[in-house]
Amino acid sequence: MDLSTTYMGLKLKNPIIVSSSRLTSSINYVMDCAASGAGAIVLKSLYEEQLLVDVENLMDQDDKYFWYPEAVEFINEHSKEMGVAEYITLIKEAKEKTSIPILASVNCITPAEWPKFAAKLEEAGIDGLELNIAIMPFDPKISSQDIEDTYVEIVTEVKKYVTVPIAVKIGPFFTNPLSIVKRLEAAGADAVVLFNRFYSPDIDLENEKVVRDIELSAPEEITQALRWVSLLSGKVTCDIAGNTGIHDANGLIKHLLVGAAAAQVCSTLYINGIGYIDTMLEGLEKWMAKKNYSSLDQFKGKLSRDEKNAAAFERVQFMRKTLTGKID
Ligand SMILES: Cc1cc2nc3c(=O)[nH]c(=O)nc-3n(C[C@H](O)[C@H](O)[C@H](O)COP(=O)(O)O)c2cc1C
Repeated sequence: MDLSTTYMGLKLKNPIIVSSSRLTSSINYVMDCAASGAGAIVLKSLYEEQLLVDVENLMDQDDKYFWYPEAVEFINEHSKEMGVAEYITLIKEAKEKTSIPILASVNCITPAEWPKFAAKLEEAGIDGLELNIAIMPFDPKISSQDIEDTYVEIVTEVKKYVTVPIAVKIGPFFTNPLSIVKRLEAAGADAVVLFNRFYSPDIDLENEKVVRDIELSAPEEITQALRWVSLLSGKVTCDIAGNTGIHDANGLIKHLLVGAAAAQVCSTLYINGIGYIDTMLEGLEKWMAKKNYSSLDQFKGKLSRDEKNAAAFERVQFMRKTLTGKID
């Protein structure tokens, strides 16, 4: 059975990509992911600030750049264990010790200066670069258009310095995801990852305190990305990877059916262990055998091409229910 797929111009032996997280931050984990059958791996994100300046000098420069609090927190917490030098070593080791595509990831919010250093990641041997762009719109003076322009400028700028394919991982909060994806594609993105899952603090009522959110996704969260993968399917030439809430083979198959070229997984591997990649692949094969498919191309995007199914994803509101239970 042929499980291979093409994602951002890279040939993957199967569509499971281990998404960026602590599970992809060390060579041992990376080797475990490869041994369990992953089609590709996205390494833990570096922050653009880490690429821009030496970590040691970083905190002296806060007049020069505006640091997002989360970036400062991240760098305080993690810079010692994962600086740029360590990241480059990780890339080289991952390339040496595995035979699957390895993507670097940069968590970025500006197109300023840092993209020229992205070339260092390419020199280290990555097969592709994922831009994890998450611009928090907390300034009312900045319009949605300005924010979207920044996404596009980041891709345009990075393209000047790297030749490997680029994927852009975005969140779901755009007025028109189709429009921003089209713009990213026009700027040179070879793939988009739909969608990242953001940190969302909760409130502890007993102690009246803001608390950390639940880090891992739940399988029910899959539906948001399914809708937009479906709506984009056939309308863009860049590849799409589904992400968030893909916890098993069924989640993976759903994404392929609506048109994703690949599926990125994280939470399920935290919950079930890295070896679960293999279980997901078995589930995919079993389903394909039952349906008489011998390659992914035979069913990739099938549901998005069917007008009735596609229309279901376009619908936003429930119909009104009358008091008698009838729908009008
Ligand atoms: C502990 C943890 C660390 C993460 N770190 C990163 C990161 O560095 N870069 C990134 O792009 N996404 C990061 N993510 C997000 C995941 O890659 C993924 O997009 C998200 O968890 C949704 O996928 P899932 O439902 O399979 O978990 C992280 C997620 C978790 C749970």
